[in-house]
Amino acid sequence: MIIVLLGPPGAGKGTQGDLLATRLGIPKIATGDVLRVAIKDGSKRGLEAKAFMDRGDLVPDAVILGILQDVMTSPQTAKGAILDGAVRTVPQAEGVARTLEEVGRKVDYVLLFDVEDDELVARLGGRTVCQECQTPYMGKLPGDKCNKCGGRLVRRKDDEPEAIRNRLSVYREQTKPVIGWYEGSGMKVLRIDATGAVDEVTARAVKALGA
Ligand code: AP5
Repeated sequence: MIIVLLGPPGAGKGTQGDLLATRLGIPKIATGDVLRVAIKDGSKRGLEAKAFMDRGDLVPDAVILGILQDVMTSPQTAKGAILDGAVRTVPQAEGVARTLEEVGRKVDYVLLFDVEDDELVARLGGRTVCQECQTPYMGKLPGDKCNKCGGRLVRRKDDEPEAIRNRLSVYREQTKPVIGWYEGSGMKVLRIDATGAVDEVTARAVKALGA
């Protein structure tokens, strides 16, 4: 089963992606996480991506499509995958559909997490993430330890106010059209109210998937 998670920055794609991955027994693939690891490792891909990410701009489609091509044709995703924030432009949606078609697969579900801008800004402004495993936290401070792996928590550079504003406008201009592209290609986009407690949001997503 291939599930695409759409939604603005801070909507909870990463949080819900982890929970759904555990529940469904398939991996979560987050291009943001893949890129942050590449930056930490100092790889060519990371060097290409860093300035775009720090500003809150999208990384060029060619870089993302290279990552998705590797991931979607690897044994790691043989049983399926949850694509977290991995499809953010129409060319990316087209590229993913083509890659999957070549290996006889398709996107099965698109979930759209919906949250008002004020709440998104509050969530991102208060977020820390583990610098080792990328788990996001609310209510913990930089320097605290990750509950999952003991790694150190840090603030993301793109969670500064200016980068947050840019990410929200990039979402509106470049990623929202992806919703129409999926609908136009006959796919039902499942809209999830992503406000309220984390487990309530998971329950809505599970119900929408019929899982
Ligand atoms: P990425 O890391 O994917 O960032 P994003 O899409 O901006 O999403 P976030 O990680 O900020 O938010 P989220 O929706 O995952 O929310 P989370 O669960 O963390 O991408 C970063 C950058 O990489 C991009 O800007 C771009 O440069 C590049 N990139 C990545 N993929 C790309 C692509 N395909 N094409 C081009 N460029 C790409 O939750 C947020 C906070 O809220 C957390 O603190 C969490 O604890 C909290 N929270 C979650 N749920 C709730 C709830 N129900 N109530 C209260 N708080 C909650």
